[in-house]
Amino acid sequence: MARLLNTSHLALHSGIRLFTDRTTKIRIKEMDKTLLQHGFDMNLVEQTATPFYYYDMDILSETLQEIQRQTRGYPFTVHYALKANGNPHILKVIANHGLGADLVSGGEVKAAIEAGFDPKEMTFSGVGKTDWEIKLGLENNMGCFNVESIPELEIINQLAAEMGMKANIAFRVNPDIDAHTHKYITTGTADNKFGIGIEVLEQTVMHALALPNIHLRGLHFHIGSQITMMQPYAMLCDTINDLLDFYDERGIHFEMINVGGGLGIDYTEPDQHPIPDFDQYFGTFKRQLRLRPGQRLHFELGRAIVGGCGSLISRITFVKESRNKRFIILDAGMTDLIRPALYQAHHEVQNLTAEPGSPTKTYDVVGPVCESSDVFAQDRALPVSHRGDIVAIRSAGAYGESMASQYNMRQLPSCVFANDKYYKKSRI
Ligand SMILES: Cc1ncc(COP(=O)(O)O)c(C=O)c1O
Repeated sequence: MARLLNTSHLALHSGIRLFTDRTTKIRIKEMDKTLLQHGFDMNLVEQTATPFYYYDMDILSETLQEIQRQTRGYPFTVHYALKANGNPHILKVIANHGLGADLVSGGEVKAAIEAGFDPKEMTFSGVGKTDWEIKLGLENNMGCFNVESIPELEIINQLAAEMGMKANIAFRVNPDIDAHTHKYITTGTADNKFGIGIEVLEQTVMHALALPNIHLRGLHFHIGSQITMMQPYAMLCDTINDLLDFYDERGIHFEMINVGGGLGIDYTEPDQHPIPDFDQYFGTFKRQLRLRPGQRLHFELGRAIVGGCGSLISRITFVKESRNKRFIILDAGMTDLIRPALYQAHHEVQNLTAEPGSPTKTYDVVGPVCESSDVFAQDRALPVSHRGDIVAIRSAGAYGESMASQYNMRQLPSCVFANDKYYKKSRI
């Protein structure tokens, strides 16, 4: 799929029409190596000051279309988790595909409204919503507050009463399921701060049903991030099935269930798998979850939607050899992409300007920031590299630009959006 998407950049320059056949695509690629490397439009890359995010908008569109294909005909609503990437241009594309929005701050609420998401299809998560953020959600008739504690429930009820309205809510349930992912991105176990424990859920539900300015719509779950095995989701389905049986017996019906996000992407083979296996993912819920008549299933995907379409492009400032190590020092750093420093996350690193087939050497790929953790990759075999070479750090569309900072008083990275009618714009 990636190759097809990539040929669109080529078509812009060469006037060649797009082919879907794989061999033809490879032939086109070989014809014009100066224009295309690992799917990157090299003219565009070389004209742009580094570091910057390169978004392949064709991959994003294909991803969104695949989600639409997989959910058509099912009572499913997919929300996009803005925290993964809040770039306004990307938000508009996602909103135009009809997705809802999953938000965690007042800033995200404003960005989602600006981008054209439907407030009725917005969910507002987070353990520490402040009063102004709750009021903003209420003013906009937000589809659902995912409530994480009884104090939060009571404040939402009070603020809704002051505004003369009813707040739509779901309880975020902590199902105590270990998604076997990195400890900083697991969220559904009893030891972390998120959600309401199953043991106190019944009393919390009864409490909410008695509050005059609360409309309890359903239950919400989110078990973690970068989940690539379906077993934790299957376990989540079992837990939800049991809970629905329990509440059915008590005559309590939920209009929706929200299973959160967390679907992972393939960080090791971005060219082969630019789009996650949505068939397996949605299939797990289609098979395992016993939704009740009229009940809708909500999803809140972030990484799976935008992760594969973005890469961080950087130039090599220096190649440095020390006694034990050989370093590639980039002009991008942890301020542009913090995931490797924060979670020891793996990203493929590709030298886009090295001669294809050139010999390799082992490098540590690092940034210029004054922190020892400013490392993108350790002991990586890469083509022999030189000052001025251009490097792509792949699969950086999610939690890349949105987590960028100006530590060391560095500039925020700019970004380009590439498809057959590309244009360029700076970060807003
Ligand atoms: C409540 C909630 N929903 C959705 C997401 C999106 O997760 P992902 O990007 O892994 O799909 C997160 C991520 O932290 C979250 O906390």
